[in-house]
Amino acid sequence: MIKYDWRNADERIIGCDNGLNIPQEFEEHKEQIRNIIADLNQRKDKPGQGLQWLNLGYNEETLWYVKEYASLVRGRFENILVLGIGGSALGGLAVTNALLKPYWNFLTSEQRDKYPRIFFLDNIDPDEINGLLDVLDLKKTLVNVITKSGDTAETMAQFMIIINRLIKELGEDEYRKNVVATTDKQTGVLRQIAEQEGFKTFVVPDDVSGRYSVFSAVGLLPFALVGIDIDEITNGIKDMDLALKSTNIHENIAAQNALIHYLMDTKKGKHISVMMPYSSKLKYVSDWYVQLWAESLGKDKDWEGNYIYIGQTPFKAVGATDQHSLTQLFNEGPNDKLINFIRVEEFNSELEIPKIFEYTGIGYLGGKGIDYLMNAEADSTKVSMSDYSRPTVTITLPKIDGYHIGQLLYMLEYQTAITGALYHINPFSQPGVEQAINYTYALMGRAGYEDSAQTIQDKLNSLSTIS
Ligand code: PA5
Repeated sequence: MIKYDWRNADERIIGCDNGLNIPQEFEEHKEQIRNIIADLNQRKDKPGQGLQWLNLGYNEETLWYVKEYASLVRGRFENILVLGIGGSALGGLAVTNALLKPYWNFLTSEQRDKYPRIFFLDNIDPDEINGLLDVLDLKKTLVNVITKSGDTAETMAQFMIIINRLIKELGEDEYRKNVVATTDKQTGVLRQIAEQEGFKTFVVPDDVSGRYSVFSAVGLLPFALVGIDIDEITNGIKDMDLALKSTNIHENIAAQNALIHYLMDTKKGKHISVMMPYSSKLKYVSDWYVQLWAESLGKDKDWEGNYIYIGQTPFKAVGATDQHSLTQLFNEGPNDKLINFIRVEEFNSELEIPKIFEYTGIGYLGGKGIDYLMNAEADSTKVSMSDYSRPTVTITLPKIDGYHIGQLLYMLEYQTAITGALYHINPFSQPGVEQAINYTYALMGRAGYEDSAQTIQDKLNSLSTIS
């Protein structure tokens, strides 16, 4: 199991101005936490609650269909191309980067056990898309288009470009075999197209927002296609789910980290939550966390409609690299951050620093594992931050494998849901994103958005009068 350590956020270590009396806070909030978790446990099977992600670890049917399709197409494609944005891409990126061999796409087919290379297109930069099309042989590529709503402009624009090319290269009939769509079971333009064209489809379940969807077919399908053991991931989620069902804050690490984040924000002015894994393989976990934390908790209104303008700003970092970029600010700049370190106990491979240049000042490095240097840096940064009275918490992964990645991501999702309850807001909506999306539709001339087009034009006109 992954472990969690809050001691560097405690006032006995970093002082009362910046630290919390954590045992006392746990005691004072234990009833509130008990009620929040009991409520999650009780509502998780009810439709319309946004909580179906709590059940994804137990979705045997999806697992079966995903594995069946993955084995059916095994050996047929050289590349997987995932089209999607936000929650439809970031979980996939985080998990594949963590679990595939580094530089996967540069390995030979044999080194990849004949599994395909994988590419994620999560932007609409023409240079990037043209560049990717230059290197991909689309005839040998399976395109997995992922969008829950089925009409996200960025994803659908990518999709139209890629499908048009596929049709040109493979013909009107054959091209369909190179497409698999993951979308809502009923609604949305992609569902309509998939049915019309006869694409193979997978479903994004109801009541699962994109940022909580990594363990649905959104993530599981690409993972299985590149040979990641999705049963191992699911076992990790199930074990973590069991642990997090405990309504006792002393036993529930998601509740502990949720409460510490909430109190650090509201009582100690720590308005920024930094995610800093000491592992390159976990670097995109920070990107995924940024979306999860920002879209779930950045809200202007509480459940009663009162304006509260709440939410910590999430920030991504990676150790040891960012020690040479951000640590100066973290230690001496505004004391407004709570840092989440992720530490890996045992890396997947060993690498010894050779005993050369022993007659120089770098001789001390020789003979030690470079993983030892990595964890020494994680520890020393933690201690130096505590010297500067900067609060940190540490999540420790025994190793980076499917089991522990499943646990880590599931714990962070659960933590986000509990933090949402503490703020008394809805962590499963994203109305602030939708406004900009509607404006984009208006600017691009989508029917039904004419009023928004006028609003934008008026705004642009008024801006142009300011000099
Ligand atoms: O968390 C969310 O719901 C969003 O970030 C979505 O994932 C993102 O907007 C993409 O939406 P869709 O999957 O509908 O294309």
